[in-house]
Amino acid sequence: MARWRKALKGVGVAVGVVALAGGGAVAWAASAADATLSRPEEPLPALVASRDPAVIARGEYLARGPAHCAICHTGSDRDHPEEVAKTPFRGGLAFEMGPLGTRYAPNLTPDPETGIGRWTDAQLARTLRTGVTPSGELSIFMTYSVGYLSDDDIVAILSYLRSLEPVRHEVPKGEWSVVARSLMGFGAFRVAPRRAPPPVHVPPAEQPTVERGRYLAEHAAFCAGCHTPSDPATFQASGPAFSGGNVEPSHGKDSDFEYAPPNLTSAPSGYVGRVDEDAFVQRMRAGRTHLTSIMPWECYAIMTDADLKSIYRFLRSVPPATKDTGPPYRKIGSFAP
Ligand code: HEC
Ligand code: HEC
Repeated sequence: MARWRKALKGVGVAVGVVALAGGGAVAWAASAADATLSRPEEPLPALVASRDPAVIARGEYLARGPAHCAICHTGSDRDHPEEVAKTPFRGGLAFEMGPLGTRYAPNLTPDPETGIGRWTDAQLARTLRTGVTPSGELSIFMTYSVGYLSDDDIVAILSYLRSLEPVRHEVPKGEWSVVARSLMGFGAFRVAPRRAPPPVHVPPAEQPTVERGRYLAEHAAFCAGCHTPSDPATFQASGPAFSGGNVEPSHGKDSDFEYAPPNLTSAPSGYVGRVDEDAFVQRMRAGRTHLTSIMPWECYAIMTDADLKSIYRFLRSVPPATKDTGPPYRKIGSFAP
């Protein structure tokens, strides 16, 4: 969500580009985008869901906690994020992106008609590993706003989803508009399935470790996705790790405000440079202070002490970045870096 929406800043320009390009070029570009988005041949990982209650429990923790699937795939009411914690994975949240189109987070319960009941484990595992959905479409959301999970964690999440009570809840099929598809065709967004080898699994432990913190912050919980600067066309990191993410306007009714995901490093201007480990854990547990923030606070708030402390210790180990990211929530134009 975050990363895709960053790209929306250019929409005004984008619409202009498409208008200038003329009918033939637009049709050409839109069909080039179809080739980018249509990936039925992407290999299916040989991962199989388990019925082991311990694996299912680990999957529940990941999906509702650090991997934050719940923030997109449960409730459909953006004004009541507190509902996320107690809502089933029935889907329906709409991502309205103006002229680019609207996408919807699908129902992830095992209902055969409206949920994931008709898909195989391998098809679902492919969605999590590469971003290509069971029907063979490259999902920009699943490729760029979700952390890269180890195979063990993919299996745990799949096992949990399979164990859920089916909920019949029809979710509309989203679409990308001609504008969006033309932009992809012209290369304004260079998107592709994720093919890097999956990260090495670092299991949860009783005692916090830097290695577990690194796995969570860079991959499973994907703090890096928002707190490291990135190139809006490729979604790849474009500056020092955790030095503060791209500034984006709020997508709520407060559209005259913007969000600046803060510098999390141990420099004096960075978050873990200013607070100790206990204060960090308390802040993560306290949850949201801004209704329209895209940070999935409700999910991170339920993380274990060991996992939150691991993240703190890892962030302390990252090279300090001196950037002053300013107030994280502010009137647009009120802060100049
Ligand atoms: C930022 C929002 C967001 C997050 C976080 C997210 N998803 Fe998704 N997911 C989507 C959207 C939107 C789609 C539909 C495809 C599209 O429009 O790109 C989708 C599609 C899927 C699909 C394909 C379902 C189908 O029937 O086609 C699966 C499976 C899935 N997500 C699982 C997960 C899991 C498991 C997690 C957590 C690891 C997760 N998602 C996290 C937004 C999200
Ligand atoms: C989807 C984007 C996104 C992700 C993922 C994300 N953040 Fe954030 N984060 C933000 C934004 C935007 C803000 C500023 C607004 C706010 O405080 O909600 C923020 C603020 C913060 C703050 C400052 C809170 C304060 O009181 O000033 C901390 C600490 C933080 N994030 C830590 C993390 C950690 C740790 C992770 C991973 C476990 C993470 N974030 C993942 C977007 C994100």
